[in-house]
Parts: sequence; C-alpha cells; structure tokens
Amino acid sequence: MDKLQILGGTPLVGKVKIGGAKNAALPLMAASLLTDSALTLHNVPQVSDILSMKKLLTELGVEVGMDIPGALLSLSAKNIVNKTAPYDLVRKMRASILVLGPILARTGQGCVSMPGGCSIGPRPVDFHLAGFREMGAKISLHQGYIEAIAPSGLKGAEIQLPIVSVGATENLMMAACLAKGTTIISNAACEPEVMDLAQCLIKMGAEIEGIGTGTLKIAGVTSLKGTEHTVLPDRIESGTYAIAAAITHGCVELLGTRIHLFSGLASKLASAGVLMSAGENGVRVEVPRGIKRPLAVDFETGPYPGFPTDMQAQMMALLTVSDGVSRITENIFENRFMHVTELGRMGADISVKGNTAVVRGVGRLRGAPVMATDLRASVSLLLAGLVADGETTIHRVYHLDRGYERIEEKLRNCGAKIERLRQ
Ligand code: UD1
Repeated sequence: MDKLQILGGTPLVGKVKIGGAKNAALPLMAASLLTDSALTLHNVPQVSDILSMKKLLTELGVEVGMDIPGALLSLSAKNIVNKTAPYDLVRKMRASILVLGPILARTGQGCVSMPGGCSIGPRPVDFHLAGFREMGAKISLHQGYIEAIAPSGLKGAEIQLPIVSVGATENLMMAACLAKGTTIISNAACEPEVMDLAQCLIKMGAEIEGIGTGTLKIAGVTSLKGTEHTVLPDRIESGTYAIAAAITHGCVELLGTRIHLFSGLASKLASAGVLMSAGENGVRVEVPRGIKRPLAVDFETGPYPGFPTDMQAQMMALLTVSDGVSRITENIFENRFMHVTELGRMGADISVKGNTAVVRGVGRLRGAPVMATDLRASVSLLLAGLVADGETTIHRVYHLDRGYERIEEKLRNCGAKIERLRQ
C-alpha cells in the first residue's frame, strides 16, 4: 500500500487546478442506465471511486469509453445484460446503491448488494428503499442483497424524506424520471451535486421542477435520451486546497472553481482570518500578514448551504493550530471524528463528547506516522503534516486516492515537500 511522506513547514504558493466533483460524477454515471443512448460526461475527476463506478457499470452491460487526459467519459447502456450489482464492487463504494433507482426504473428489476456499515457510521439505505416502495416496487432482502421488482413499472408518489439525504434524493429523482405519473420529493437535498444531476437529467428529457429547493416535482416520461454534460467543480477539493493554503500561511489560486459552491465553508474561513476572493479564473485564498495563527471558530455541519460534513476534518486540522478554543459539532454522521486520535498523535489538543469536539489550538504540531480510515479524515492528516515540524507519513493512501486526483503533484506544484512511496 502506498504511503505519502511530507516534510512540513513550507508555505504553499501557486495555482491548483480543481477537478470535477466526484460526488456529482458518480450519480451522473449511474444516470447513464436510464437511457439506451450515449451519455458523455466532461470534467470527470481521475479518482479511484470513478474507476469503481466504471467497473460496476461495465458489469451491468454499460459500454464505457474513457479518455483520461481529456477527463471525458462516454457511457452507453444500450443493453443492460445484468441487473445485479455484486458485493465485491459495492463494498468498495457506498455510492454503488445509486444504480438501483435507474436500473429499476428502466427494466422493472434491480438487485444490489447491501452497502455495509462504514467507518463514519452505520449509513443505512432505508430512505432509498422506502421511496422505491412508495413508487410501487416490492423490496426484499436475500443473503445480503437488496432485490427490487416493479414488473409493470414504477408509479409517481409523494415521498417525504425523514432527514435530508443526498443519495436518497438522487436515487429517487432518477427513478422518478421514468415512473408513470408525478413524484414529489419533500425534504429533498439541494446540494450543488444534486442540482448538477437534475440539470443533466433535464437535458436527457426529464421534467423536473424545484431544483435547488427542498421540494422536487418530477413528471415521469416514457424514455430519456443521451446528452453531453460537464461535471461541476469539486467544492470539497476546492475547500481542502483552501485550507492547505491557510494552514501553511500561503497564497493559492484555485483555478476553475466557483466561490458560491462553498459559501458555508468560506464564511467560517473568513471568521478564522482567511481571505478568499473570487477572480476571473477561480478563487484566491490567502492569510493576511498581520494574522500569525488562524482564529478559533465554532461551527456545526449541516445540509447545504450549511457547513459540509465532508470539510469537517480538514477545518478541524486548521483549528488545531489556531489561537483559541473552537467547538465543532458533527450533525450528519455519527462517528465522524476518526481523525481526532491521529491528530492527537501529532500534538493536537482535542477532546470529544458525543457529537461535539473541543479543539484547543496549539502553537505547533509535530510530524508523525499516521493512518486514517476514511477519505476526508486522511486528508486532514495530510493538511496537518503540511504545517507540522518534521516528517509525517500517511499510511493507506488509497483512501485519499478515492477522492483526490494527483494530490501530491498538485501540492508539490505549490512548493509542498511531499513524496509518494510506492509499495
Ligand atoms: C453523500 C456524499 C458524502 C457526504 C454526504 C452528506 C456522495 C457519493 N456522497 O453521501 O460524501 O458526506 O452525502 O453530505 O455524494 N441516512 C439514513 N438512511 C438513508 C440514507 C441516509 O439514515 O437511507 C442518513 C445517513 O446515515 C446520514 C444522513 O442520512 O446520517 C445523510 O446521509 P446522505 O446525505 O444520504 O449521505 P450519502 O448520500 O451517503
């Protein structure tokens, strides 16, 4: 397993090209199952989750063409040869559940291995399944597989999500596009990635109203067509590099991203003393000279436009070296503080009670060998390593590779001392 070795202490200065959003590209890829014509996606990030989804779709019969340098994917689900998403592929990536809605809507049948628990909490899929039931599907569980059948097709329904769920909104919205009649999804997620998917579905011929609000109204159509779509910029990658600039007291220009995508984060970074300004080519991030250490900030995670849970670990890394005491409340996932003990090994002072972490800023962090068990936790350790004294080694880099493309190259271009040790 590869490792990353970082020698901390260099301010990051330069430009970083932000890729397409992984969390938009994954559901967009699943949407290819809704039509027998080709869907072409541009600005697809080169991360391993995309390769996992490609493998899964290929298994189902989708022909996938990939032009890596061009960040282009073409997907043609002319013939769906298999309606089962197997355990070996699903266990690697929870987002695999997103194939169930499209395949069920298009063929009247679908079967997906139950996504297991994962390191950031139990993360069930009950909202997805309850929604499919409302739409007339019969759902059963056999030997760890979810089987869904709707022999005469799905029908429109009124679905109220118990809490905002990105994945359930996406899965049900895709299914509703081919259902008979109108579906209303209340308490729907309005994350930019959900909006991006909705906009692509509309280009494919879907009839969706209420995009960007908590109520989606989808009038089912009999078929969808292929289209071309450019994946929106990755707001979590953007935010991560913004924090890399802030934690090292550097100045980085994030190319190809848009500040409005991460306003929840930008306002908390501003309170921490980090300046972000929108320019023609993206967003500039810097720490004014007068600010020696970031200022302490309290925040809680919430659905969009709140502070994203996927940025909680990175913001915590920044606050470990802040001047003061910060309180962080995680409202979306149980058990999403796996990075706390590892940050502690680097000298951070953090205590956790329930879903709240109290971070007492320290003057310095020390490099250490560290390891985390999920994507965003791993990158928070990398960020801490960029400012720590001495050497930090991040183990299990495959977590990072799931969601960050060429991370060491992008950081090195801004002056970071970072190497990948291949094993
Ligand atoms: C998506 C993102 C993930 C992000 C999360 C929250 C992708 C591929 N992943 O994950 O990076 O951290 O949104 O912004 O886009 N829940 C249930 N039952 C369900 C579904 C969800 O109880 O059927 C709960 C979850 O356990 C969690 C909350 O709802 O507590 C929100 O989860 P959800 O928005 O569904 O997350 P994902 O779509 O899995």
